[in-house]
Amino acid sequence: MKELVKLAYKAQQNAYVPYSNFAVGAALLCKNKKIYLGCNIESGTYTPTSCAERTAFFKAVSEGEREFEAIAIVGNKVGEEGDFCAPCGVCRQVMTEFCDADFKVILGKGEEYKVYTLEEIMPFGVNPLKK
Ligand code: THU
Repeated sequence: MKELVKLAYKAQQNAYVPYSNFAVGAALLCKNKKIYLGCNIESGTYTPTSCAERTAFFKAVSEGEREFEAIAIVGNKVGEEGDFCAPCGVCRQVMTEFCDADFKVILGKGEEYKVYTLEEIMPFGVNPLKK
């Protein structure tokens, strides 16, 4: 898990955040052990902004991945230490589309991390494909 958090920090380096100055990185582990990195990418018109988590998911899904084990997420204001960065509601919904209830969401901060399941952070998630 520490290794996945480290990779999230690596992904964070590519964050494009001229508007918020809040850089986020994510490392998404597939069940086949492949890892996809993502960063947040902002837009001058704000709404097209992609969170780091969705960048990682859409990279992976567009490469054919469908089975996911865990995601590590780190985020902070550029140049500050910050706190644990939890995924937004839209990203939780994307996770609900592609992941099972036991998918692990790892929030990293420096050497520390906390682990949650998708079920814990997204109760009553909507997925018409699952009962
Ligand atoms: N952001 C993420 O990329 N992931 C999160 O989990 C929280 C928010 C981004 C969106 C925006 O670019 C910036 O962080 C400030 O909200």
